[in-house]
Amino acid sequence: MNIKERINNLITTLNKHNINYYVHDKPTISDFEYDILLRELEELENKNPQYANNSSPTKRVGSHPIKEFGTIKHRLPMLSLANAMNEDELVEFNKQITKNIPNDIEYVAELKLDGLAVELVYENGEFIYGSTRGDGFLGEDITNNLKTIKGIPLSFTGKKIPKLLEVRGEVFINHKDFKKLNEDRKKENLPLFANPRNCAAGSLRQLDPKITASRPLRIFCYAPGEIDGIKFKSQIEFLSSLPKWGFPVNQHIKLGTGIDFIKKYYKSAEKIRNKIDYDIDGVVFKVNSYVLQKEIGIRSKSPRWAIAGKFKAEQAITKILDIQISVGRTGALTPVAKLDPIKVGGVVISNATLHNQDEINKKDVRINDYVLIQRAGDVIPEILKVIKEKRKKNTIKFIIPNECPICNSKAIKNINEAVLRCMNDNCEAIIKGKIEHYVSKNCLDISGLGTQIINLLIKNNLINKISDIYKLKVDDLANLERMGQKSAENIINSINKSKTTTFSKFINGLGIRNVGLNASKLLEKKFNNNIEKLINCNYEELINIDEIGDIMANSIIEYFNNSNNINIINQCLSSNLKFESLENIKTTILTDKLFVFTGTLKKYSRSEAIKIIESFGASAAGSINKKTNYLIAGEKSGSKLNKAKSLNIKILNEEDFLNLINNI
Ligand code: IVH
Repeated sequence: MNIKERINNLITTLNKHNINYYVHDKPTISDFEYDILLRELEELENKNPQYANNSSPTKRVGSHPIKEFGTIKHRLPMLSLANAMNEDELVEFNKQITKNIPNDIEYVAELKLDGLAVELVYENGEFIYGSTRGDGFLGEDITNNLKTIKGIPLSFTGKKIPKLLEVRGEVFINHKDFKKLNEDRKKENLPLFANPRNCAAGSLRQLDPKITASRPLRIFCYAPGEIDGIKFKSQIEFLSSLPKWGFPVNQHIKLGTGIDFIKKYYKSAEKIRNKIDYDIDGVVFKVNSYVLQKEIGIRSKSPRWAIAGKFKAEQAITKILDIQISVGRTGALTPVAKLDPIKVGGVVISNATLHNQDEINKKDVRINDYVLIQRAGDVIPEILKVIKEKRKKNTIKFIIPNECPICNSKAIKNINEAVLRCMNDNCEAIIKGKIEHYVSKNCLDISGLGTQIINLLIKNNLINKISDIYKLKVDDLANLERMGQKSAENIINSINKSKTTTFSKFINGLGIRNVGLNASKLLEKKFNNNIEKLINCNYEELINIDEIGDIMANSIIEYFNNSNNINIINQCLSSNLKFESLENIKTTILTDKLFVFTGTLKKYSRSEAIKIIESFGASAAGSINKKTNYLIAGEKSGSKLNKAKSLNIKILNEEDFLNLINNI
């Protein structure tokens, strides 16, 4: 194969992999292998510039910075959408559409993606230029930036390539990528992006495409612009052609008929809203038939044949009536804004967390201020900002007191911490928090012992530490306000049932600072259900456990150095707690060995493989380091393979791995 052929061959291969990754979400090679091919192509192109090709993926890394964007006139205006704020308005939309049409209308339902609209223009299958929506008529020329987005095909082939194809879509950033990007920026002391949409918008409008190339931008395409050389009869036909040419299309698109379909999709989209990894702010319903669309027509700014069904606002403005301090099980004093109750996204909100004093100062939040609050899924509502224009003279600045509001003892701020903590172990709030934690799902999982009953038990001096739970009798509970004999018996039953537990759940339940369920599982494995060994362990033993670091090791040592804690543990144990034995732990050649998995195995899923090695006393970690004993490299292994090679770690393919475990 000559150089030109190799270059073309690499371009085709890499573009195919881009489509597998960005359009079908099914990569067939690892990122590492992709990078090797890309580097080979880059080198060949640098040495042989005469074979430069515009559809080469190397063109995505960004060309030279420019001073300002030029403008591009859209051949067809980029319209916006009329909004329906609730179901009734969707019913009204459907009524208008069906006014002069006897039959039920076929609609395409799509998610309304919350990013930035762009237009991509292709001539004979080649990406020529692309632009922002701008004012709908004139957009900014962001061609070089768009070329850096791997989901956008630089060219496409196929049986029937239109002379002109304009595709419109939304550029956005996934939540996961956004989080990682902000974390990286934090490490480098760079300002953080407020949300994925701002980040996507800022990234697209960079004058230096290299910066755009470094941002994890994605695209979903959803609408045609001008097209010449191919005819689509309907929106669904258009959308289903796009992936064949390499354009990513959102997977939650549905075709259906009539108002019942509209209502059903609107409801179901609200439910998936918190499950998907990108922001949406509603749904879009479009008349499917292009002939019908034309018949129904457009207004000056939006088509009559489509509507956006917006979700109930998850943000609202309300007044801060007071700021109070809540004390949790770790003694942390957390300021909580008491709000004038307001419905946000269908739920009445009356509290919002303010985190700590730094946060209060940064946002300049005061009692009697009006604030914009946001509820996102199940998380505690947050105050986004103060509405300064509504601020009156009666606002009161708030400073977190340096004494605990529950027990009045002094609150202390540890070095490196933003929070003040009550240090009194007998503080009622801490006691309550610890007990609530101990009975929760990932700990002893005692059903029936809810917050209110715990409060009553503490108030009646029946419990003041976790081990007191085991001293409770049916009558103690039955005598509480509003508690019947049957409920009391049920609670005692669930306490007894919870006595058969696991070592890790019990350790998690102790509430050792910085030690959650995962760390507790590591301790379970290391100390093999032997709590004496754990209590008497030293710092070195702990730090040698993979994934346990200095902070956690110190917390554990400190916890077990406190005789009060040991007394409580002993009292719990004497009430007949039983830790289920760790499955089949016997000493094998794999005992205490550390495995890392990469790629996919044909015979076992990753979690099945981990269970197998754990049954031989080994454990699995997520990343390679000097302590790793084996890397199991399945198909499509990632960059871990190289790291393992550089550290001289034993690498086994699936066959070697099966041999190893079958011969134990
Ligand atoms: S169709 C005339 N489909 O919403 C049709 N737009 O308010 C206009 N958007 O500027 C576009 N998801 O940024 C369409 N599935 C979707 C969409 C969508 C998000 C945005 C787009 C547009 C705005 C219109």
